[in-house]
Amino acid sequence: QSVADLTGKHVLISAGGTREHLDPVRYLGNSSSGKQGYALARIAAARGAKVTLVAANSELPDPAGVQVVPVVSAQELYDEITGRAADADAIVMAAAVADFRPADVVEHKIKKTADGAVPAVNLVQNPDILHTISHDRARPDQIIVGFAAETGDADHTVLDLGRAKLERKGCDLLVVNDVSGGKVFGSDLNEAVILDRAGTALPVPSGSKDALSGVIWNLVATHWPTPRP
Ligand code: PMT
Repeated sequence: QSVADLTGKHVLISAGGTREHLDPVRYLGNSSSGKQGYALARIAAARGAKVTLVAANSELPDPAGVQVVPVVSAQELYDEITGRAADADAIVMAAAVADFRPADVVEHKIKKTADGAVPAVNLVQNPDILHTISHDRARPDQIIVGFAAETGDADHTVLDLGRAKLERKGCDLLVVNDVSGGKVFGSDLNEAVILDRAGTALPVPSGSKDALSGVIWNLVATHWPTPRP
């Protein structure tokens, strides 16, 4: 592809891990560093796209030429992504989003009590952003890419679980990460398989998150309708 093959396209990317606060200082979170989402943003900008990066709690520097929108929680990420979806030619959900949040956020720091009682934490479900934007498309020509962090289990391979997730979420491409043994989170490397809409596995050479980002944008570009001459 040419170096500026994404010129004229607007891409919306999520990165990092959401935090769901229990009180002002404690939260439920995950160890996403944001490296994968930031790599996608950097590479898309370098290939000429207008890039909006909705970043949850990443400490990485803003990539050059990219509009960065910081968020903390899954609900904030939902609001920013759904609010901007109609303006995007492609949306890539690389963020690790909490499925649940505490039902109540306590205003002051939760303290230990003299009787040793342990506080109960009630959880409620967060909205599923990828499911929402895929099933209720803001634009028919839009390409939506999800990620899946899977470990497999006794009865299912990582790919089995990825195919079931692709079906449920309804996105066009799903990047399935094998995160068993703590791989991928925080690393500069990735080990992924990309599933297309039909569930066919597209080979990705193992390598850097930058290299995977390049493969993802190549695939997105082939899915966009070809402009009439
Ligand atoms: O940030 P790094 O350290 O570089 O690590 C990269 C990564 C491992 C975080 C990333 O590559 C990755 O796999 N991201 C997806 C992690 C994840 O939350 O997977 P999931 O299987 O729980 O979710 C599936 C998809 O649905 C994801 O695209 C997620 O963004 C989306 N989702 C999940 C829950 C929810 N409530 N709303 C969502 O949109």
